[in-house]
Amino acid sequence: MCGIIGYTGQMDALKVLLNGLEQLEYRGYDSAGIALLSSSSDRLLVKKAGPVATLKETCQTLDVESHCGIGHTRWATHGGVNDVNAHPHVAGKVTLIHNGIIENYHNLIERFGFQDSLVSETDTEVAAKLFDYYYHGDPVEAIRKTIRELTGAYAFCILFEDIPDQIFCVRNVSPMVAAHIDGSSFVASDVTAIIPYTNRYFVIPEYQIVTLRQDGISVEDLEGNPREPEMLEVSWNVEAAKKNGFPHYMLKEIHEQPEALRNTILPRLRDGLPDFEEDGIPDDLFRNCDKVAIVACGTAMYAGMVGKALMEPLLKIPVSVNIASEYRYESPLIDEHTLVIVISQSGETIDTLAALRLSRKYGAKVLSIVNVKGSTIARESDYVFYTHAGPEIAVASTKAYMVQLASLYLIGCRMAMVRGNFDREEASQFISRLSASVPAVEKVLAKKDKIKTAASLLAKAQDAFFVGRGLDYAFSLEGSLKLKEISYIHAEAYAAGELKHGTIALIEEHTPVIAVATQDHIYGKTLSNVREVRARGAFVILITKCGAEVPEDVCDLHFSVPVTYDQFTVFPVAVILQLLAYYTSDMKGLNVDKPRNLAKSVTVE
Ligand code: AGP
Repeated sequence: MCGIIGYTGQMDALKVLLNGLEQLEYRGYDSAGIALLSSSSDRLLVKKAGPVATLKETCQTLDVESHCGIGHTRWATHGGVNDVNAHPHVAGKVTLIHNGIIENYHNLIERFGFQDSLVSETDTEVAAKLFDYYYHGDPVEAIRKTIRELTGAYAFCILFEDIPDQIFCVRNVSPMVAAHIDGSSFVASDVTAIIPYTNRYFVIPEYQIVTLRQDGISVEDLEGNPREPEMLEVSWNVEAAKKNGFPHYMLKEIHEQPEALRNTILPRLRDGLPDFEEDGIPDDLFRNCDKVAIVACGTAMYAGMVGKALMEPLLKIPVSVNIASEYRYESPLIDEHTLVIVISQSGETIDTLAALRLSRKYGAKVLSIVNVKGSTIARESDYVFYTHAGPEIAVASTKAYMVQLASLYLIGCRMAMVRGNFDREEASQFISRLSASVPAVEKVLAKKDKIKTAASLLAKAQDAFFVGRGLDYAFSLEGSLKLKEISYIHAEAYAAGELKHGTIALIEEHTPVIAVATQDHIYGKTLSNVREVRARGAFVILITKCGAEVPEDVCDLHFSVPVTYDQFTVFPVAVILQLLAYYTSDMKGLNVDKPRNLAKSVTVE
């Protein structure tokens, strides 16, 4: 996720751009930049690693009058966090900013022979070079030809140096809106940056070319036919706009999960198989290890539990999951043949960082799964598998967890291919099932009302139990954490077969038990455990696969997930458990995004 803004009109363009980038910083903040076209067509470019404040400080010394420009605040996907990789990118007469991922940019570099002239590591610079390659004075023609070559998601704002005061825009999948009022035209990733000037805007239609001028905005399709976009009105203030209209960042981020999954999975697929060449992760890392140690904290550690449950039976080598705050003070049985996988959304969790450093002392190779580009854990790892969830603002992790799972599934599949556990056909089938998890997540998001009902019952509880077996137990751990950390209900997750060894003594009339039973080979066993708690008065919420046989007397509420393959139920199940926790907390009137006692990144021991 990045933030983009463009302006042309009577106002001071630099001021409009910098103010807009500040509003858009919640979309990404590892670097920022602006480009201005003065009336004499001189192009001015300023871009810096660091937050928008750094860019703003750098721009204070500028003595320039401009009424047309574009600005960008970056959430890095391709290329490190530095000035060179910051947007805008320049190629010949073209200046470009971009939100999205061009999946075929490597192929474009080879086809058009760009390799010797690139200065950055980004897919965006390749797109800029292609726009310039096709530009011979007709910007619309250049745009038309360029986007025909691109595969992936994009929202582009383009300046052509010899066309002052005009901004050209085109999008596919990535969001972009535009507005015109009183001699000023605006384009931005979302209405947050436009609201200070007007509440009337339109969503730029996909594959239509939008030209911003000071006297208005024109829209045309790829055949050059003029089009009239649908005008919309927004009544949000800026804060509401940052949440895209959702009441809380957490709910917005839960809904961003399909996009986060696509942005994390698709760039790692080549011919339908996992390929980590662009990530610089060699197959030898997977081939030469004789065991895997996963190390993390909190939700990241629970993602690791799912990774273990998937990878160990698949790879037939030991896969351990270690609480980082414990591991760092132990003498772990690891060595140069161990692959340590460190998982961290923030990349700054101090216990996880300490565990990473200890692992390297023992000679282990460290592969980290991190969401924040250039974070400390990323920089100290041997290899990094970045997730592309975009900034996660809510303290309770949702989309970051989801993409950590997807990353572990991709890594597990690649390891299985390299180590001979999967042939190409099996790997391809696994990936197509992983890809199918995205629409499964979207289907659950479309059915929230029944989850709200369950939450209204949970909100009255003091205690709650989550039970499952195998993968379902791993899902339950995260579901339990989500509920307790934002609703303050004492929730515990238990291996379903373990309840009768003591904990079942806590079950009494109306005690809520959320039972996850999506694994065929142990479904009957889990149902037996569910009957045991129900016999003692528990209120049972049962989550199964679609089509599972659910006896009448076994639960009070039943949810089914639209997935038929046991290994892939985690993605829609996670959404149900996230929404259950979210609505419970919201119904209790609690601060969902900033729960008491917690911080987004735990950088203290
Ligand atoms: C999860 O909802 C919490 N925010 C917390 O458990 C978090 O997952 C944990 O602190 C690890 O953070 P990290 O992924 O940034 O390392």
